[in-house]
Amino acid sequence: MKIAIARERADGEPRVAATPDTVKKLAGLGHDVSVEAGAGADSAAPDAAYQEAGASIFDDISALAEADLIFKVRRPSDEELAVLRDGAGVVGLFSPHGDKDFAAACADKGVDAFAMEFTPRITRAQSMDALSSQSNLAGYRAVIEAAGVYGRGMAMMMTAAGTVAPAKVFVMGAGVAGLQAIATAKRLGAVVSATDVRPAAKEQVQSLAAKFIAVEDEEFKAAETAGGYAKEMSDDYKAKQAALVAEHIAKQDIVITTALIPGRPAPKLISAEMVASMRPGSVIVDMAVEQGGNVDGAKLGKLAKKGGVTIIGYPNLAGRLAADASNLYAKNLLNLLPLLSGEDGSYAPHWDDEIIAAMALSRDGAVVHPSLVEEAKA
Ligand code: NAI
Repeated sequence: MKIAIARERADGEPRVAATPDTVKKLAGLGHDVSVEAGAGADSAAPDAAYQEAGASIFDDISALAEADLIFKVRRPSDEELAVLRDGAGVVGLFSPHGDKDFAAACADKGVDAFAMEFTPRITRAQSMDALSSQSNLAGYRAVIEAAGVYGRGMAMMMTAAGTVAPAKVFVMGAGVAGLQAIATAKRLGAVVSATDVRPAAKEQVQSLAAKFIAVEDEEFKAAETAGGYAKEMSDDYKAKQAALVAEHIAKQDIVITTALIPGRPAPKLISAEMVASMRPGSVIVDMAVEQGGNVDGAKLGKLAKKGGVTIIGYPNLAGRLAADASNLYAKNLLNLLPLLSGEDGSYAPHWDDEIIAAMALSRDGAVVHPSLVEEAKA
């Protein structure tokens, strides 16, 4: 099939959906691969490297009209979508819950859209799971960002001139990003604690030798969906959680928040009073800032100063490790490709496969994803 990799046009998006390495593999499988000029420039992948790997380079997006399948990081721009041919497929991170018009726009255009966010959390799909590959890097980067701003050391250092105390790091939300943040902070020598509302997280936190802190009542014991995600907690639970967190946070130097509930705004976990209770020089990283934020006072794309406390609200933390993020994301797409190909290598999605069924937003001119169809009815 003809596979095209378009340059990302969204603001602040340095990633690319294929690397010279994955292009070489795609070409080796017999696919005809084309890459837009400059697509990998911000991910340390120059055009020449793609050409060497077997891709042709195109300058004008009208070339996308030839493609059977388009790989993207973010949603295609309206201009890109306009040139795609009827019946082509497009795969990417499309924020399907936040960007409700996209599935309908693809259906109108007769394009099959597959949202990487909807990759099911089953063992067979792990190698295709872009939320995991990107969250892992984002969790690492969150700690690096915090350490860069924190005007003190992360590890304990005993010197002739005196002792530097280790940083106390608290991670809120111990999913993929949170667990990597815990591991990274530990490696840097910090004293780490973490919280989550899912009971399964407790053992995972403890296995990284961090302290687990949570209100462990009956509601906590049932707070996980079949898909492994958190549920929205009751107001009563939130109040108990806030009281526990308030007491703990006042003693922390760095707080990383990662808490998300799929399809809902991020839960508010840190109030302005809690921020004010932290000692001067403390740093908070709000990794949920793009979904509304976990922290009162976090500003999207900014370092916000509240008293002596810095709140980091950078979006797309994985993009701040663009070369690695692109590399892992491109591999996620490569691993998905067999489910979008026929035996002869043509574009032929396996519509009955549970992974494709979960990811498909549109097909044959209609929006097909059950959650979007439900939302549209409501
Ligand atoms: P996420 O990005 O949706 O949320 C981040 C974390 O925030 C979660 O751990 C969630 O429980 C937590 N959270 C939500 N509300 C909170 C609150 N009020 N207070 C504190 N924490 C709160 O989650 P992510 O990273 O996508 O992981 C969810 C689960 O899926 C994990 O158990 C993970 O291990 C599992 N998973 C399974 C995979 C597979 O089997 N293929 C692949 C990837 C993840």
